[in-house]
Amino acid sequence: MKIIPNIKLIVKRILNYKVPGKYLTIRPDDIYLVSYPKSGNTWLRFLFGNLLYNDGVSFLDINSKVPDIYMTSKKEIDGLSSPRVIKSHEPYDARLPKVVYIYRDPRDVVISYYYWCQKFSVIKEESFDSFFQSFIKGDVPFGLWSDHVNGWLSAAKKFPEKILTITYEELKEDTYEGFKKILDFCNFDYNEKDIMNAVNASSFAEMKKNEKETEANSFFNSTNKNISFVRSGKSEWKSKLTETQLRIINDKFNL
Ligand code: A3P
Repeated sequence: MKIIPNIKLIVKRILNYKVPGKYLTIRPDDIYLVSYPKSGNTWLRFLFGNLLYNDGVSFLDINSKVPDIYMTSKKEIDGLSSPRVIKSHEPYDARLPKVVYIYRDPRDVVISYYYWCQKFSVIKEESFDSFFQSFIKGDVPFGLWSDHVNGWLSAAKKFPEKILTITYEELKEDTYEGFKKILDFCNFDYNEKDIMNAVNASSFAEMKKNEKETEANSFFNSTNKNISFVRSGKSEWKSKLTETQLRIINDKFNL
């Protein structure tokens, strides 16, 4: 994967990630939303933010309300009242008290990741096929998809009281039920109406609208405005991957 010099900063921040525990003081009632990139993490953050905050969340304040360990300052994260809900892309870490791990079909992750890298100029003029080869080798930020996912899935089998796993696809199929399952795991007791309001405020359409309205001032703004962060929200691999790419990715990840 070729990294463009003028966007070194953002990539450096991602690559030199701040490991929770070294960087943060972990609290016993913290909830961590963990995923490999492009797996629905921001959607989860919006669901929690729209439930926990009376005034909801937007792309302008998501990093301060449901912080991102790579983008939000330590001071800001330390200043939040408990229970904090914190986003991370880290591999399995036994010290985290409660983790919701979301994962997605890697055939869609690779497509979403390619657009994201273009949006934030992490790559430039790189073909999809070249990016695809890097993804298959794990030569992208946060490494090989299967290492990340399998690490967390096997830990979740051992420590089901600490780690809940959910797929992007399951959350999409029935967002209310998926989110309710997550809230039960977190011991968050909210009524149906509040949960439904959060689900509606975090729908694909609402988040896309909010991204457009706030893009000039938000971190999610970028040089490539023609590519949205809240982009397609669909499974696209059947139409976007070639037969050869499908064979390679299916073999690699036993799909
Ligand atoms: P696509 O690029 O396939 O559209 P992450 O937040 O982990 O980076 O994941 C980003 C992916 O989640 C993007 O996928 C984005 O469109 C999708 N997404 C964001 N908000 C969503 C929502 N409310 N419903 C469904 N998908 C959503």
